[in-house]
Amino acid sequence: MKLFLDSAITDEIRKYYSTGMIDGVTTNPTLIYKSGRNPEDVYQELIDIGIPDISMEVVGDENTMIGEGRRLIKKFGNRQATIKVPCTVDGLAACRALSDEGARVNVTLVFSLAQSILSHKSGATYISPFVGRVNDNSFNGLDLIKEITATFCTQNVESTQVLAASLRDVHSVAECFTYGADIVTMPPSIFDKMYNHVLTEKGLQLFDADYAATFGKAL
Ligand code: G3P
Repeated sequence: MKLFLDSAITDEIRKYYSTGMIDGVTTNPTLIYKSGRNPEDVYQELIDIGIPDISMEVVGDENTMIGEGRRLIKKFGNRQATIKVPCTVDGLAACRALSDEGARVNVTLVFSLAQSILSHKSGATYISPFVGRVNDNSFNGLDLIKEITATFCTQNVESTQVLAASLRDVHSVAECFTYGADIVTMPPSIFDKMYNHVLTEKGLQLFDADYAATFGKAL
């Protein structure tokens, strides 16, 4: 059960990584654009922080993605760098080539069971079904997770892990694990909210008040 942060804001990632609960980071061109930084400066900082697994997305046609993937692996190393490709004909061909060379590949923009099967057959280490974007279009994103994990389980698929992405709320994060996702990536703001429960707050207020009453002084 792994938690990744879906972000390119290194200060936030550093803060949450220090909790010891974060297993990796996923980025994409939109997140990089929002950070206002050069992608490779972001990747280098994440490497220096010690993030064990960093998804770095490549774009373009098959050969461009393969070339970029090789260059990123050479620059940042196989241990921490994961190459992220889209679930397209070119992306899956790049996935095959890079996986055969020993790279971890994350196939992103997965919206169907059929795409998840093709990604697995292309040697993907991770597939990223987009829960939130499926929900945005009036289908049930969690059903997609359930369908993929159930099929992978029935077919004894072990080499491809389900990395649930595009999460917008705490409930869906937890449900992804219930439905068998191996990894869930989420924005730091959602990770923060995972701590929250109204009964914890209420209970703590009572305990603090009783502690203070026991010793005759406020905390
Ligand atoms: O990293 C891919 C994914 O998590 C994007 O999420 O919120 O843009 O649909 P979102």
